[in-house]
Amino acid sequence: MELKIKGNRTLTGEIKISGSKNSALALIPIALLSDGVVTIDNVPEVSDIFVLKEILEYLGAKVSFDNNVMVIDNANLVNKEIPEELSHKMRASYYFMPVLLSRFNKVEMFFPGGCSIGARPIDQTLKALTALGGVVDEKDNHYAITTEGLVGGHVYLDMPSVGATVNTIIAAVKAKGTTILENAAKEPEIVNVATFLNSMGAKITGAGTSEIRIRGVKKLNGCYTEVIPDRIEAGTYVIAAAMVGENLKISNIIPEHIEALLLKMQEMGIDFELNDNSVLITAPKHKLKPVKIKTLGYPGFATDLQQPVTPLLTRCSGVSKLEETIYENRFNNVPYLNEMGANIEIKGRELKISGPTEFKGKTVEATDLRAGASLLIAALAADGNTTIKNVNHILRGYDNLVEKLRAVGADIELV
Ligand code: EPU
Repeated sequence: MELKIKGNRTLTGEIKISGSKNSALALIPIALLSDGVVTIDNVPEVSDIFVLKEILEYLGAKVSFDNNVMVIDNANLVNKEIPEELSHKMRASYYFMPVLLSRFNKVEMFFPGGCSIGARPIDQTLKALTALGGVVDEKDNHYAITTEGLVGGHVYLDMPSVGATVNTIIAAVKAKGTTILENAAKEPEIVNVATFLNSMGAKITGAGTSEIRIRGVKKLNGCYTEVIPDRIEAGTYVIAAAMVGENLKISNIIPEHIEALLLKMQEMGIDFELNDNSVLITAPKHKLKPVKIKTLGYPGFATDLQQPVTPLLTRCSGVSKLEETIYENRFNNVPYLNEMGANIEIKGRELKISGPTEFKGKTVEATDLRAGASLLIAALAADGNTTIKNVNHILRGYDNLVEKLRAVGADIELV
């Protein structure tokens, strides 16, 4: 599939942000830990979620998904190995590792997939599962993990990994005794996971800080929960608004979750009106100041907004710098942005962006999800027509993308 975009259109009106893909990708597997029916509201309709639904059904769960509400009944859950092809479709497939281990005391699983943005090892998850009483047998890309019963333990993560934090919480929640997790990730998605589990009856404190304590419980009841707004989708549209918006309102957001981006925009000289759950932006006509940005774990500048923000930096007069500290290879958008007219040099893990430059429409390719979002933003601001190939990468993470952009005046078509 391809996206065809006629650029240089002014976008005006309102874009409502959907539920967080990365939160939903954790909450849905976690629902399998419950001893009752779980209802999750505000689930985005993105392709990754449909893959998860397929995995749940493969494991024997009954799942309905209508109007962004997913209802999961796991009464007939079975312990089966998830086919390699399904595990490979996304990183989040490895959340089933601690879920099935906790439920059945054994799990067999293939290495997870995810965007190709550098090596993405799972050593911290394996270390945590071992600390909690799992025995890991690893052969090539296949893992067999068994336990005589998970027990609480003391886990220190070498880096504040989002996935390893979620996996440790999952393994600890029904383990015997207390787990202390140090150097935990502080992302809002972790808080969403802990709130969800606590509403099922778990005993988790400290989520959102770097030390999380989990007191194991025997039972988890069914519950209703809501997915938080997607801060990366919000950030992506905020950036688009700063380039081509006129009174464009991005609503249903938690402004605090995109504070690092908003503060950098202020530094560039971009004005916006911030309200309780929305932000109103008009693309400035004046010169923008160059900035330095470094990606970090939350509340630092999100790596998932590094590629989307790059087109905006081409608008600054002078040299901006953008350092990627989380992934080693997250610059696959750059050659295409340069073909479209940007002047960006890659120096190791840093980009040097010289501006201002203008974008021209071209045929380009989305190599991964956020690279695709970056090219889309450039295309919306470009003179002429852009075709983005391999658009399935973008549809993994942006709910109703074409409809949302068309409603505010973009000329965009999915072919
Ligand atoms: N890492 C290790 N060992 C581990 C785990 C992580 O070395 O055991 C390294 C990774 O290689 C990476 C860094 O630690 O360099 C951070 O990885 P993290 O585990 O935090 O990322 P993740 O859980 O795999 C989630 C999101 C990503 C997002 C990161 C960082 C999901 C499904 N994915 O990945 O989202 O970039 O957190 O915030 O939640 C995206 O949405 O485009 C995306 C890639």
